[in-house]
Amino acid sequence: MAALLLGLLLFAMQSPPIPSRPMADGGPPSPPTASPTDNGTTSHPNGTLQQLPQILIIGVRKGGTRALIEMLSLHSAVAAAQNEVHFFDWESHFQKGLPWYLSQMPYAFPDQLTVEKTPAYFTSSKVPKRIHQMNPDIKLLLILRDPTERVLSDYTQVFYNRLQKHKRYQPIESVLVKDGEINLGYKALNRSLYYVHMQNWLHYFPLDSIHVVDGDELIRDPFPEMKKVERFLKLEPQINASNFYFNKTKGFYCLRDHGRERCLHDSKGRAHPHVAPAILQKLYQFFHEPNKKFFELEDDRAKYQGRLQFMTHILPSFCAVGNAHCCSARLIKTDDLL
Ligand SMILES: *[C@@H]1O[C@H](CO)[C@@H](O)[C@H](O)[C@H]1NC(C)=O
Ligand SMILES: *[C@@H]1O[C@H](CO)[C@@H](O)[C@H](O)[C@H]1NC(C)=O
Ligand SMILES: *[C@@H]1O[C@H](CO)[C@@H](O)[C@H](O)[C@H]1NC(C)=O
Ligand SMILES: *[C@@H]1O[C@H](CO)[C@@H](O)[C@H](O)[C@H]1NC(C)=O
Ligand SMILES: *[C@@H]1O[C@H](CO)[C@@H](O)[C@H](O)[C@H]1NC(C)=O
Repeated sequence: MAALLLGLLLFAMQSPPIPSRPMADGGPPSPPTASPTDNGTTSHPNGTLQQLPQILIIGVRKGGTRALIEMLSLHSAVAAAQNEVHFFDWESHFQKGLPWYLSQMPYAFPDQLTVEKTPAYFTSSKVPKRIHQMNPDIKLLLILRDPTERVLSDYTQVFYNRLQKHKRYQPIESVLVKDGEINLGYKALNRSLYYVHMQNWLHYFPLDSIHVVDGDELIRDPFPEMKKVERFLKLEPQINASNFYFNKTKGFYCLRDHGRERCLHDSKGRAHPHVAPAILQKLYQFFHEPNKKFFELEDDRAKYQGRLQFMTHILPSFCAVGNAHCCSARLIKTDDLL
């Protein structure tokens, strides 16, 4: 609980989210005189245009999507939407149609690729079909973390939001466990059943349209993961090690973009609540089977494409059942990065 309170203090003191890259001309945005065309773009007299995204970061919630899009926008050939648009998952947005979606996109130069991220896409079963209808060749990025840590991270975020709004919250033990068993009705738990959601996507998209980013690795050492992303997107290699520097105070990497330094919002480093080791152990054990199923999906993909496997550590062997001590140590050290 002490860690939690400390986290809360930090939360109260923190600054607003980092701004994304400045506008190229540095001046105020001119009024939108843009004209929609029928080829999925809206062009502007200054040579930029709005285009439907060619890349989507589909999730997972608390997987590291913000870090990923910030790191991706280090690349000069990428234009990133600032906000989570929630077009394909929110009915009220989807009803507005593609012209509205287009209007939410950043102005990009014609040789840039546009990327949008909405982490809720991954776990919404109606979304894959809708995206496929827009563009069956779109490139999808999915960033995943250890499912147990993701659940705790999910809980932590909701917990802080409720605390801020002076709403009641349930202690973590009581949402995770019901009648002595893992509570399958807990939505955050379901979001960590990666194989369940992944199947929906594989129904519509070929295996090689989806690249899985290892969220645990991205935080530990972002550069190698970003190189893989560049390769998948067929971008000219541009992001390099000097784009990242480790901030000891924060305990994670910050970005250096043309001499400008920026770090993720402090809410990205909150401590997880303490969870009784017995419950943690139960959680790790619970995810063993779903993880295996996910690997099997991934395994097929590796066979199919002869591609390198990823994330063999999603259930780290040193955190296997029976070693609860290690798990809790790991959880106290690693914060909820994203
Ligand atoms: C071009 O115009 C758009 C729309 O006003 C603006 O958002 C963008 O920053 C401008 N880009 C450049 C490079 O001038
Ligand atoms: C879309 O159409 C507009 C106007 O017809 C044109 O200027 C623009 O180059 C086209 N963009 C693409 C990507 O084809
Ligand atoms: C998890 O969510 C999926 C998709 O929404 C749903 O089909 C499934 O029944 C849920 N599983 C459980 C155990 O609640
Ligand atoms: C890394 O990229 C920056 C520009 O983003 C460039 O100035 C620098 O020379 C590059 N460093 C290396 C080692 O390639
Ligand atoms: C490192 O993080 C601390 C704490 O958030 C912040 O005050 C400081 O400005 C950061 N330093 C750099 C060089 O990013």
